[in-house]
Amino acid sequence: MSSSQGHRFDIMALVFCLLALAKPVNVIKLSPFLPHSPSLSPSGFPILVEQDSQDTSLQFDFYRESCPHAESIVRSAMARILNHNNNATAQLLRLQFHDCFIQGCDASVLLDEGNGNNNQSTEKDAIPNSTLKGFDFIDAIKEELEASCSGIVSCSDTLVLATRDAIVLAGGPFYPLLTGRRDSNRSYFAVAMAEIPPPDANISETIRLFSLRGFSARETVSLFGGHNIGKIGCEFIRPRLHNFHGTGRPDPTIPADFLDEMSFICSNNGSTSPNRAPSPVRSRSLVESAVGSSSVSSGSVFGKYYYDSVLRGRGLLFADQQLMAHDETADLVRAYASDDGTTFRIDFARAMVKMSNLGVLTGSQGQIRINCSRLVSSN
Ligand code: HEM
Repeated sequence: MSSSQGHRFDIMALVFCLLALAKPVNVIKLSPFLPHSPSLSPSGFPILVEQDSQDTSLQFDFYRESCPHAESIVRSAMARILNHNNNATAQLLRLQFHDCFIQGCDASVLLDEGNGNNNQSTEKDAIPNSTLKGFDFIDAIKEELEASCSGIVSCSDTLVLATRDAIVLAGGPFYPLLTGRRDSNRSYFAVAMAEIPPPDANISETIRLFSLRGFSARETVSLFGGHNIGKIGCEFIRPRLHNFHGTGRPDPTIPADFLDEMSFICSNNGSTSPNRAPSPVRSRSLVESAVGSSSVSSGSVFGKYYYDSVLRGRGLLFADQQLMAHDETADLVRAYASDDGTTFRIDFARAMVKMSNLGVLTGSQGQIRINCSRLVSSN
């Protein structure tokens, strides 16, 4: 990590805080979020945080004495990882979502079976988590942290910090994070099986699952913008193409040209080799090919592409396209699509702060794992 990148983060933190204190950005068709109460960091800068009762033990720069370089170690490791893995941001974002959604941001999704974990199965074994990736990135970063200060920095903090830094390095919005999370003593297979939103969920089910975690419709729609980046496997798209909900016909909400496009990509014709499964569909490439490169704005992948595509009936998953099936979420999609992406980026940053604080363990709860896939008793 160069010092200029470090400064970029500091400047972004400052700009974010100033933005948060300034008059809310002009939000097209959306009323502004209620003002947040800013708190002061040790450096005197105001830090925008959601003040939930459950996260009061998290602190600004929790490791400032015990491992002063922890956050910069994560940031520079993430920069190196992204040089070689351009999908790392997407993989970590999805990994964090699946961790925080199930019993909070406690790194329970990182645990392997056995090794003293008394459960029959782990979250990793749950079907909705079967295609999660990015575990190796967290392991690599944690090894570096361990080399500097052993047994101090939790896997849960490592995951949220690495994800935030990866988002910023990929051109996404900065958001400030408090730290001091601790790691769970167990993994929650059954909860993951039941409560990770499925790709064929209708909008009521999606809203229900997100509201159980305290997310409003607006926060939910902004978090779906995570689908601006990354890849979606054809196994999640195919059920919409041929025999939608057992009808023997495609999902009627898919426009004909998009149906052809997805059918081609998700058939063996779309594969580079006839013997190989088709490659996953890149979320963004379909949107770009649909709207033309002239409409791709200002260089950041964290723009409004996702909302443009959903608005045009080109959501890759049924759950994506369902955002248009409900008045409130459809209005939000239209609003996010109608400016240069600024409204989405601000809302997404705020919703990520909230997600990162869900159900955290602090103080003497849980443990600090050394190896993120193993409980500390069995390291
Ligand atoms: C109802 C809600 C959601 C459903 C049903 C859903 C479902 C999925 C599915 C099926 C995939 C494809 C996985 C694969 O091919 O391996 C995926 C990818 C992804 N999802 Fe979601 N998702 C939801 C919400 C979210 C949220 C809230 C975020 C983050 C804020 C997110 C971030 C991502 C990312 C970044 C990818 C790409 C991962 C990669 O490239 O490896 N998703 N999602």
